[in-house]
Amino acid sequence: MTIEPLEQLVQSFEIAGQDFSRAGEVSSKIRRILQQIGAPVETIRRTSVATYEAEMNVVIHAQSGRIDLSADRCAIQITVSDVGPGIVDLDLAMQPGYSTASEEVREMGFGAGMGLSNMARCADDLSIDSVVGQGTTVKMQFRTNG
Ligand SMILES: Nc1ncnc2c1ncn2[C@@H]1O[C@H](COP(=O)(O)OP(=O)(O)OP(=O)(O)O)[C@@H](O)[C@H]1O
Ligand SMILES: [Mg+2]
Repeated sequence: MTIEPLEQLVQSFEIAGQDFSRAGEVSSKIRRILQQIGAPVETIRRTSVATYEAEMNVVIHAQSGRIDLSADRCAIQITVSDVGPGIVDLDLAMQPGYSTASEEVREMGFGAGMGLSNMARCADDLSIDSVVGQGTTVKMQFRTNG
């Protein structure tokens, strides 16, 4: 990677909830940034998939949110925080196939209930903090092995 050992890349992006016309823009931007700094292809792939799923969850399930990206030579850290309904039962939400997505959202091709399990599979570390009625924060780490 082209960033020096002690250097850190830090950037933030806003996500608009319910705006399907812009859905996926932030994860695409982050993918381009990771390509520019020369992160390993395999790390970029995992980070992009998981970040896209997290971004879509904000668009679909929350009112607004943001993604904070930080990267150094060893790892990429993605924090996705939103203002929204929160997750009532996290264990249930993590189960593949569980979804509260509306019929309308399912007709657009989302709501298979695979996002969170996909994120858990792609990330080296995943933690979710959620307060019902307030919002959700998802933290993910991706090692570069660099
Ligand atoms: N940011 C969030 N805010 C509130 N609820 C969420 C959030 N992320 C996930 N959930 C809850 O967890 C459930 C499972 O999420 P997951 O991403 O696995 O599936 P999905 O978004 O419903 O469908 P898919 O991701 O396959 O399109 C959601 O249906 C929703 O109830
Ligand atoms: Mg999802």
